[in-house]
Amino acid sequence: MMKIGNIEIDKPLVLAPMESVTDQAFRIICKRFGADIVFTEFVSSEGLIRDCRKAMRKMEFDQEERPIGIQIYGSNETSMEKSAQIAESMQPDFIDINCGCWVKNVVNTGAGSALLKDLKKLEKILVSVIKSTRLPITIKTRLGWDKNSINIVEVAKIAEQCGVSAITIHCRTRDQQMKGEPDYSWLALVKSSVFIPVIANGSFDTPEKIKHAFEKFGVDGVMIGRGAIGKPWIFLQTKDYLNGKIYKQNMELQNRFRAIREHLELSVKIKGEPKGVIEFRKYISGYLSGLYDASRIRAELMNYKELHPILKRLDEYEEFLLERAEVGKII
Ligand SMILES: Cc1cc2nc3c(=O)[nH]c(=O)nc-3n(C[C@H](O)[C@H](O)[C@H](O)COP(=O)(O)O)c2cc1C
Repeated sequence: MMKIGNIEIDKPLVLAPMESVTDQAFRIICKRFGADIVFTEFVSSEGLIRDCRKAMRKMEFDQEERPIGIQIYGSNETSMEKSAQIAESMQPDFIDINCGCWVKNVVNTGAGSALLKDLKKLEKILVSVIKSTRLPITIKTRLGWDKNSINIVEVAKIAEQCGVSAITIHCRTRDQQMKGEPDYSWLALVKSSVFIPVIANGSFDTPEKIKHAFEKFGVDGVMIGRGAIGKPWIFLQTKDYLNGKIYKQNMELQNRFRAIREHLELSVKIKGEPKGVIEFRKYISGYLSGLYDASRIRAELMNYKELHPILKRLDEYEEFLLERAEVGKII
C-alpha cells in the first residue's frame, strides 16, 4: 500500500504533470478512466508570488480530481517557501517540487533538473518548503544531470532525511531530455536505499511494462505521461491487466468517440468557446491515431472553433467508420 499523507492506494497509477497537456479537462478524463493520482502542470514559484493570473489558474482543480498534487518549480528557497504556502491555500492533497525539468529556460534559472547539480540548494529548498506547510511534500526528479553524474540514490536519501513523503523518478538523465531509453535499473537500488514510496516514470506506455515495473523493480507506483495522451483509458486497461484480466487492446470505436466527446465537452465547459475547442486540438491526433483516413479528418477538425459543429463532424466520422466496420472494411 502506498501512503502519502492521508492518501493510501495500492499500486497507484499516476498521471504525470505535463505542461500544456494535463489541464483540468484532461486530468478529469484521466481520472474517469482510472488514474489514481493526478498532478497539475508545473507552476512557477516566481509567478505565484507575483500573483500572476496564469500561474494561479494552473492551480485550480475540481474535487473530482482528488487526490491531486500541485507541482511548483523554482530555485529560490524564499520564493519556493512562499509559493508552497500559496499552493497550500488551494487545498491540494500534496505539493510536488519539480527537480527534473530539462528545459533550458527553467534550468538556466537554477530550477528543475539544475537542482541535481547543487544538492545543497536542493536540500535548503526542501527544508524551507517542508517547514512552511502542513501538506505532504513530494519530489519528481531524474537519475542525474548526465550519465557520468547519476546521483539519484543520494538525492532520494537527502529527500527522505528532509521529510519528503514520496519520490517520483523519471528514469532518464537531464542530458537525455525526453529521448533515449530510460534506465530502470536504478529503481530497485533506490527502493532498497530509502523507506519513502518510489514512483517510477519514463516511457511506461503499456500495461505490460507497468506490471513489469511493479513486479521486477518493486516500485510503489507508476507514473504515466505521454502514454495517456490520446489514450486516457490506459489506466483502466492497466488495472484490468494488474488484476489478471485480459484487457481490450483497442478501445472499441464507440467508447473511443465517447471519450473524445466527453473530453471536448469538459474542455468547453471549463474554458468556454472558442478557447475550449481550440485548446482541444492538440489532443485530436492522439485520439484518432490509427483510424482510417485519420490524417485528413484531423486536418479538417483543426479548423473548428465552436463545440456543436465539431461534435457533429465527429459523429459523422464515427458513423462512417462504423459503416465500414459493418461491411468488413478496415477502420
Ligand atoms: C509536453 C510535456 C510537458 C511536461 N511538463 C512537465 C511538467 O510540467 N512537470 C514535470 O515534472 N514534468 C513534465 N514533463 C515530463 C513528464 O512528467 C514525464 O516525466 C515524462 O514525459 C516522461 O514520462 P513518459 O515517458 O510517461 O511521458 C512533461 C512532459 C511532456 C511530454
